[in-house]
Amino acid sequence: MASNTVFFCKECGYESAKWLGKCPGCNSWNSFVEEKINKKSSSKSGTTRGFSSAFDNRSEVKKLNDIVVQKTIRLSTGYDELDRVLGSGLVEGSLTLIGGEPGIGKSTLIMQVCGNLSKHGKVLYVSGEESEVQVKIRADRLNIKSDDILFLSETNISQIEEKIEATSPKFCIIDSIQTMYDEEISSVPGSVSQVKEVTARLMYLAKRCGITVIVIGHVTKDGVIAGPRILEHMVDTVLYIEGERFFSHRIVRGVKNRFGSTNEIGIFDMQDVGMVEVSNMAEVFLSDNISPLPGTAIVATVEGTSTILLEVQALTSRSYYNMPRRVANGIDLNRLSMILAVLEKRCNINLGTQDVYVNVIGGIRIDEPAVDLAIAMSIISSYKNMEIDSKTVFIGEVGLTGEVRSVNNFEKRVKEITKMGYNKIFGNQKQIDNLKKETLDQKVELIGIATIDQAIHYIMKESRC
Ligand code: TYD
Ligand code: MG
Repeated sequence: MASNTVFFCKECGYESAKWLGKCPGCNSWNSFVEEKINKKSSSKSGTTRGFSSAFDNRSEVKKLNDIVVQKTIRLSTGYDELDRVLGSGLVEGSLTLIGGEPGIGKSTLIMQVCGNLSKHGKVLYVSGEESEVQVKIRADRLNIKSDDILFLSETNISQIEEKIEATSPKFCIIDSIQTMYDEEISSVPGSVSQVKEVTARLMYLAKRCGITVIVIGHVTKDGVIAGPRILEHMVDTVLYIEGERFFSHRIVRGVKNRFGSTNEIGIFDMQDVGMVEVSNMAEVFLSDNISPLPGTAIVATVEGTSTILLEVQALTSRSYYNMPRRVANGIDLNRLSMILAVLEKRCNINLGTQDVYVNVIGGIRIDEPAVDLAIAMSIISSYKNMEIDSKTVFIGEVGLTGEVRSVNNFEKRVKEITKMGYNKIFGNQKQIDNLKKETLDQKVELIGIATIDQAIHYIMKESRC
């Protein structure tokens, strides 16, 4: 029996024989944890065994041209929103990792998916977290009655492998990876070495037996438990469920996909009957206000193939601190600082004595620069206490010289905005000039601007009359 101590990086899984202050793999500080590796037989290491055996039958050198590609079989999860993120369904024999914070709705969504997958074949749901009664209560609540869903309460991976061989299911769900363990490793379930080993064995199982495996993994904010991030490079597909605890919307985002693109998102709503698909994605994040209020501006953002309209709210108020407060929810704080600097320097708006709060409604986060103009306009609107017409949308990146720059997918955004009945769009002058206006179905006023100053003047003139 070989026993030794290794150090793993909690963030990326980098392995080292001694403790390191900074991880050479991901550059994070103080992320190394000590783990005892105590294996009964080193030759039985799942990590190496899993991968080498999975490719055993392909170990000869071949001409690339001689390799016959078998058509991948896609299996629908029964939810269009999820299928789109996966790239038109789950691929047979693949391993998908679903990550998210505890309580976000991973088990709920997967249980609903199980109900639909059972139409394709037998599903084995392995839970290491909840008892059979708890899982049954959830299934009843979600009205899942299929006879083809099998349940197993187990945490030992060898036992799970045995049960899989005995029942030969088409799908296997592991809830969650942090509760599973390999008895040959002495570290506790959830540690980096356990999580890696168990995933490697599941990956081997998926490839060897053609079982489609879905693994659930918790991500904690402080990264105490070995998170799914360590596994991202091992599995085929990684999806994350995001959302704020106090909002019912849940966003399913593709982070890695060996069988499709990763920039898609799917939106669900957590209700008392489980996760319900949101089909009117474009408007779902807008607030319910119909009358315009100072401090709000609307932007159209693109996520994969979907265009979503979002409301940016800002509040400026006199500061009582030496250092005015800047609070950004849903956008990057550095981006906000940059926009404030541009407004101060290029538009002569003195925000140095003001606290500035910016919030994106609906608990969604936007990272694309196309939101800059809307952020700037919402701040101006609050500062000058002037309303912006609620049917106006702002699209544009703001440059350091105060110019409004072009954005990608401009035509797509404009089309969606006009479809939703909005009547005024501010955007980069050149991009608006190049737009094929005849392709737009409805009458919409397109206002091309070169600088942020022009947009401010336009809005001020409008609010005065
Ligand atoms: P769960 O799927 O157990 O979260 P996870 O597996 O990601 O830890 O979901 C837990 C939350 O979802 C819980 O707070 C209750 C809520 N919920 C609903 O709102 N509606 C439902 O139908 C179900 C089953 C759960
Ligand atoms: Mg759960």
